Amino acid sequence: MTWGRSIFGAILLVAGCHGQVDPIPAATPEMALEMGVEQDQLARGRELYMANCARCHERVLPGKMDPEYWRGVMPHMGENAELSKSQETDVLIYLMAAHGTVHGMNLEH
Ligand code: HEC
Repeated sequence: MTWGRSIFGAILLVAGCHGQVDPIPAATPEMALEMGVEQDQLARGRELYMANCARCHERVLPGKMDPEYWRGVMPHMGENAELSKSQETDVLIYLMAAHGTVHGMNLEH
């Protein structure tokens, strides 16, 4: 496994370097406000992400991928995980919100 090329290696590094901040943050009112959605929807998205997104490969953390990337990949991965369209949207919104939270708290853009 080459660390430089592997996204999964990079994820472990991100998680390792910023241990004090949850890389899979719980849904907050701030995140909901930021995304213009209900907090419940983010919480549902997080649940679905936790339950479905590490079945076939290591979990790809929200902060690892840009929001545009998540938008591009979720239709395919939602299908892989056999999510309904609305569940797929919940996961996507959560991933985009969590990306912002993780980067806002941790990393320079
Ligand atoms: C049924 C198995 C399966 C499930 C469930 C699944 N994936 Fe995947 N995933 C794959 C496979 C296989 C690939 C490899 C490439 C491809 O098919 O596009 C992949 C690739 C990826 C990639 C791209 C990695 C790269 O190299 O850029 C991301 C990101 C990803 N998955 C996220 C998710 C998320 C988020 C979920 C939950 C909604 C999920 N996956 C659920 C099978 C799965």
